[in-house]
Amino acid sequence: MSISTALQRTPIGERLVGIVPDAERFVAETIIEDIENLKREHNAVVLAHNYMTADIFHGVADLRGDSLALAHMAATTEADVIVLAGVHFMAETAKILNPDKTVLIPDPGAGCSLADSITPADVRALKNRYPGVPVVTYVNTSAEVKAESDICCTSGNALRVVESLESPRVIFLPDRYLGAWVASQTTKEIILWDGSCMVHERFTAAELRDYRSEYQGIRVIAHPECPPDVLDEADYVGSTAGMIEWVRAEAPTKVVMVTECSMAANLAVNAPNTEFIQPCNLCPYMKMITLENIRTALQTMTTEVVVDPDTSRRARQAVDRMLAVPLT
Ligand code: 13P
Ligand code: SF4
Repeated sequence: MSISTALQRTPIGERLVGIVPDAERFVAETIIEDIENLKREHNAVVLAHNYMTADIFHGVADLRGDSLALAHMAATTEADVIVLAGVHFMAETAKILNPDKTVLIPDPGAGCSLADSITPADVRALKNRYPGVPVVTYVNTSAEVKAESDICCTSGNALRVVESLESPRVIFLPDRYLGAWVASQTTKEIILWDGSCMVHERFTAAELRDYRSEYQGIRVIAHPECPPDVLDEADYVGSTAGMIEWVRAEAPTKVVMVTECSMAANLAVNAPNTEFIQPCNLCPYMKMITLENIRTALQTMTTEVVVDPDTSRRARQAVDRMLAVPLT
C-alpha cells in the first residue's frame, strides 16, 4: 500500500493521535481538514521531505521521502499542483521536472547552506580549470548551478552516479563531506568544492563516542553530509531514506540518527520498540515550512516556483541523467 493510500484511509482525527500533544492536535486537525479540501479543489499533492515536522509528515503529506524519492515522485505525479514541503532547491527540482505544472513552496525563504555555497560562475571557473572533467552536482543547489553541470546526484545515489561516469576524474559539488565520503569508496579521483551543511557539520566524533559510553549497545547511523571522523564512528552511513530503511530492517533497541532531528521523531511513530536518542540539530530552513503556510500556499496559490526556461532545460538534462542511473 502506498503512503498516500494509507493517509487517505486514516481519518483526519486519528492521524496525529499520540504524535502531537492534544492541545495542539485540535488546532492542527482543523488546518489539516482545510488542506485536504484545498488539495481536492486544486488536484494538488503535498510532497514532504523526511525532515518535515510530524504534523506535516503524518498529517498532510501524500508522498514522503528523501531528495531522490521526491525527484522521482515529482517526475511521475499526475497532480496539477505540487506543494513542496521541503526547501527551495527541492521545489525547483520539482518545477524543472514539471515545467507545465504549478509548483508551490510554502515559504520561498526556505533555502540551504549548501545551495548558498556555490554560484554558476564558480562552476564555470572549475570547468575552465579542469577542462573535460565531468561535473557531478548534488541536488542541494540552485537551478542555475545544475544547468552548468553534467549530472546531478543525491546522497542516496552519489556513489552510483560517480561510478556511472567513464572519466577517471570527477568534479563533485558542492558538499565537501559527501564528496569525501564518495571518494573513500571509489577509485576515481574526486575534485571537491568547499561547501557544507550547517546542520551536519556540527556533529562531532567525540559526541558520538559519548553516546556509545552513555547508552550501552546503541547503534549509530549517520548522514553522509557529516564530517569524515563522524562517519568513521557510524555503524551505517546513508541518505535519510537509507537511514529509515536501516532502522526498519535492523529494528535496533537504541539508535542515534546523526542528522536533522525531525527524522527520529517521524520514524519513532512507527517503531515503538526502538528508543531514539535525539541530538536536536534543527535545519532552520526546513523548519520554515508549517501546516499554516501549506494551507496559505493552497489558498492563495503562492509562492509559485519559477525557473527561467533555458536554465530549466539545461538543468533538466543533468537531473534526467541522474534519474536514468539505476536505483540499485
Ligand atoms: P536526503 O537526500 O538524504 O534526504 O538529504 C537531503 C538533505 O537536505 C540533507 O540535509
Ligand atoms: Fe541544506 Fe543542511 Fe538544511 Fe539539508 S539540512 S536543507 S543540506 S542546510
